[in-house]
Amino acid sequence: MGSIAGGSGRRDWPDEIKERIRRRYSRLIEERDFPPGGARRLLDAGYPPAVLDRLPEELIAAYRGCGFPLAGLRLAGIRFAVDLGCGAGIDARWIASEMGPDGTIVALDMTLPMLRMLTRLPDRHALPAGSVWPVAGDMEHLPLASGIADLVVANASFNLTVNKTAAFNEAYRILKPGGCLAVRELVREGELPREILEDPLSDVTSLGGTVTEEDLRDAVVDAGFIDIRITGRQPFSCVLSVQLNAVKPCTATTPPMPTSRRPGRSTQ
Ligand SMILES: C[S@@+](CC[C@H](N)C(=O)[O-])C[C@H]1O[C@@H](n2cnc3c(N)ncnc32)[C@H](O)[C@@H]1O
Repeated sequence: MGSIAGGSGRRDWPDEIKERIRRRYSRLIEERDFPPGGARRLLDAGYPPAVLDRLPEELIAAYRGCGFPLAGLRLAGIRFAVDLGCGAGIDARWIASEMGPDGTIVALDMTLPMLRMLTRLPDRHALPAGSVWPVAGDMEHLPLASGIADLVVANASFNLTVNKTAAFNEAYRILKPGGCLAVRELVREGELPREILEDPLSDVTSLGGTVTEEDLRDAVVDAGFIDIRITGRQPFSCVLSVQLNAVKPCTATTPPMPTSRRPGRSTQ
């Protein structure tokens, strides 16, 4: 199967589109352009109420996810997790607070103001030092070593990637054999609705990047994942939010990280 690009079919200038996505998400943070609803949005999305006690209000306001990607997962005892397209970092900080003192989570995003917000805001309950590592990077070319993660999480970010095949291949590469993928993602039913197709900004929104559930599953199968489950379908604007869980086979051999992508000074 070929690479799956974004849903609107106009994602033919990858760098240009990524730059526009970066600008859009930077502006949302810099102008405090947060959706209304605050804490209520998280509770409605399925987050446990304890999230409201543990995380700063401003971080909660900056949430841009499409559901709670961690339902049913046992986080205690996880040693190394990665949140791809972490945004301001709600999920990363929640995971860090649940993992226990030996756990570490890499919170990766390509939009620097998002990462700055993640690091700037204090916790009501301080996390162990060094438990959240913010990393500036592209989900399609991860500056992370192969076979290191027990858990890879993403919330409403695969839909923004220009090349979803590359992004799922990278998630697979950084997982340990037996490691889990837990993703909350948007999918479309059939063609993209007209209101998205006619929106000139749709390439830089989560809605414009949606593919069908079948294409999403194919990308995950092609990357090598097994035990793929797509559940929890919920209406989200004019598309659907779904929960995707999958596992990297215990027997998998992981290709090494390409030399050109080994982290240098630019990855922090
Ligand atoms: C809809 S927001 C979701 C943020 C966060 N996961 C949440 O639940 O609040 C999508 C995030 O993905 C990031 N993103 C989009 N494409 C990316 C890519 N190729 N690599 C890394 N981050 C990306 C954006 O910068 C943005 O912060």
